[in-house]
Amino acid sequence: MTDTLPGRPVTAESFRRALSVHASGVVVITAQSDGVPAGLTATSFSSVSLEPPLVSFYVNRSSTTWPRLRAADHFAVNILAGDQADLAARFASKGIDRFAAPTRWRTGPFGAPLLLDVSAHLICLPYQTAEVGDHVLVVGLVTEADVHNPSHPLLYHRGRFGRFLAVRDTQRGGDR
Ligand SMILES: Cc1cc2nc3c(=O)[nH]c(=O)nc-3n(C[C@H](O)[C@H](O)[C@H](O)COP(=O)(O)O)c2cc1C
Repeated sequence: MTDTLPGRPVTAESFRRALSVHASGVVVITAQSDGVPAGLTATSFSSVSLEPPLVSFYVNRSSTTWPRLRAADHFAVNILAGDQADLAARFASKGIDRFAAPTRWRTGPFGAPLLLDVSAHLICLPYQTAEVGDHVLVVGLVTEADVHNPSHPLLYHRGRFGRFLAVRDTQRGGDR
């Protein structure tokens, strides 16, 4: 006899523990609203569609940064490099100016702040949002994509930042 599916969700603790095993890349979403830069660290970033080119992230509904990101006419996705763990931690901290030194950034071509020394930048136009559970799904249409430093991504796994180690030297794609 097969087991019946349980009728209730997992406990918060086992949910968190299982998800922490899923290693992810780390991005900082940035935008400028009313002339003020805003940004937050996210691991929920994902590619969504090739045609049209869409990406997504999820933002907590309780985020104080989200209203400022939502008010902006575009946002940037800064894909962090392996030596930018401190930057990731800074953009997840409350009560500080995340753009103050030692954060290194410049104003991008359309106004969104771009962090320096990242692996890549994407510039996105707001495409769609949807409330999903306690988060908001944000989908962006990518209008610019610049790769700077592709070989050493920052990863997040079981509550810690780390680096990527290739299993072998062969490469599948265009990353050089
Ligand atoms: C590694 C890491 C990943 C995170 N990923 C997300 C995420 O995907 N979505 C999100 O809303 N917050 C995420 N956070 C939390 C935000 O970076 C930030 O701490 C939170 O938005 C609180 O700040 P705020 O009120 O200024 O938005 C993450 C934090 C860390 C350290």
